[in-house]
Amino acid sequence: MNAPDGPGAELADTLSRLRRILRGLQSAGLAALPRGTRTEQAAAQAEPVPGSSVEKAEDALRLTRLQMGDCRRCRLHGQRSHIVFGEGSPAARLVFVGEGPGFEEDRTGRPFVGKAGRLLDRMIRALGMRREDVYICNAVKCRPPGNRVPDSHEIQACSPYLFMQIEAIRPAVICALGACAAQTLLGTGSAVSRLRDSVRFWRGIPLVCTFHPAYLLRNPAQKSAAWQDLVRIHRILNEADEVF
Ligand code: URA
Repeated sequence: MNAPDGPGAELADTLSRLRRILRGLQSAGLAALPRGTRTEQAAAQAEPVPGSSVEKAEDALRLTRLQMGDCRRCRLHGQRSHIVFGEGSPAARLVFVGEGPGFEEDRTGRPFVGKAGRLLDRMIRALGMRREDVYICNAVKCRPPGNRVPDSHEIQACSPYLFMQIEAIRPAVICALGACAAQTLLGTGSAVSRLRDSVRFWRGIPLVCTFHPAYLLRNPAQKSAAWQDLVRIHRILNEADEVF
């Protein structure tokens, strides 16, 4: 029998390409496809379309911030200047999660605006994106004194808000920056060096763990490893693009 041509052949070809992509994602461990189809167009709109997934994400983020209020659920509230909730696009396909605000972030109320933030900006640009295309937040929203690592009580008190933020956005991929973010999302005590060996998942969303930018500033030899993690993120974003 002759192979079909015309529109039939085109459809068969598209279906076989789609099958190949899905098989590839499945063998990479993807259990479920990310929910929602946010087009580049919708993402680029300053005003979200009423009733769209972007508007719902924006509302959910606003509600999460309202629920936090003037949070005093842990002792970190005592010395903070600002709650650093997070910022970026509610339509983000990539969410970065850091540890907690530092001095500059506490002063300004914005995440990753200090030295480590400047390196994160370069990482975002390496992915062909702008800071306003992604969403950036932290495991804890108030600065731990002296930039110490947040303790388990502080993380437990704050992580529900982090989870609500990510659920609101449901990005195509999450990037955990450093051990605190990775361990909070994955509920594990494993080291980043081990967690970055494969794509993990948070509630069905691919999660790539990499080194914290502040760690990379202290250990520049690890930048090539972080680069590999960015390549992995880029690939996941491209694969999600091909599916939708
Ligand atoms: N380090 C973090 O983990 N988060 C910030 O917002 C800034 C520095």
